Amino acid sequence: MTIVAEKEIDFEAAAQSLRAGDLVAFPTETVYGLGADATNDRAVATIFEVKGRPQFNPLIVHVSDLEAAQKMGQFDEQALRLAEAFWPGPLTLVVPRQADCAASLLVSAGLETIALRVPAHPLAHQLLQTFDGPIAAPSANISGQISPTLAVHVAAGLGDKVSMILDGSACPVGLESTIVGFDDGAPVLLRPGGISRPAIEKVTGPLHEAVHDDNRPQAPGGLASHYAPKTGLRLDAKNVEPGEALLAFGGDVPEGVSLILNLSVSGDLTEAAANLFAGLHILDAAQPQRIAVMPIPDTGLGEAINDRLRRAAAPRP
Ligand code: TXA
Ligand code: MG
Repeated sequence: MTIVAEKEIDFEAAAQSLRAGDLVAFPTETVYGLGADATNDRAVATIFEVKGRPQFNPLIVHVSDLEAAQKMGQFDEQALRLAEAFWPGPLTLVVPRQADCAASLLVSAGLETIALRVPAHPLAHQLLQTFDGPIAAPSANISGQISPTLAVHVAAGLGDKVSMILDGSACPVGLESTIVGFDDGAPVLLRPGGISRPAIEKVTGPLHEAVHDDNRPQAPGGLASHYAPKTGLRLDAKNVEPGEALLAFGGDVPEGVSLILNLSVSGDLTEAAANLFAGLHILDAAQPQRIAVMPIPDTGLGEAINDRLRRAAAPRP
């Protein structure tokens, strides 16, 4: 595996790797993706194998623009409006597959829908343009671990399992994309993420709630413990107990704590989102007994941050 510095990226070589069925990790504005040719069943299967991901968890397919997306999935008026409002950007739309959709059935994991997204990151965009086809890419981490927001996170987690890691430094959003699906035409928030609920509701009106049912893995990230550091988390911590590290938020931080990482001293939720996974990586690496997490408001991107923190804190099998 090689980490390729931004200035040295040979996009043609990366596209060739994808064509050969190899995996290429690349930055998006949300988190790093573990990319494979979405039309190649074997390459897509390799993603599941490398991530150790439960087979029923479908993947997001990345495309370069709306036109390419419409070749794969059927967009009704509501889906079109969302795509036009937020693409390129951190929004994934789950729509019915076109009858002649070129993507492997495995990306949909048996569902009749496909998750599509046009990433805004310039390196992701250039890779898609050069490859000239759809790229299936989950977050580039082992299943159950924290999503990578730096190339070194990918290298630490996946190592030699990936042929190439394109280094685009830190992912600016730092949280996965918001996923919106449709239930009889009504928009449903399937996963909170980089675009806040109010921003989406401005376009769609009120979003419906996803029904969470682990036996029906329609709702993404349905497994309660998905984003997990090795260290346990204690949420809504107002104080810090001996042996704990602190994941702080805002200026009003308890004193006398030996290891603190502040997601945003000024209490800015967008900054906190961008720092969330890297912050958890840093505290986890220090191996404290536990990570105490200060309360984070549930407004705007706070909804996605708290969702990820609850998953990280959920008891693991
Ligand atoms: O920001 C992101 O979305 C990143 C970057 C790399 O694009 N990708 C990402 O992928 O987070 P992943 O695979 O870690 O999460 C994708 C989620 C999964 O929870 C999966 O269940 C859901 O999308 N998903 C994919 N296809 C779906 C479908 N057809 N129906 C419902 N959910 C779907
Ligand atoms: Mg993931």
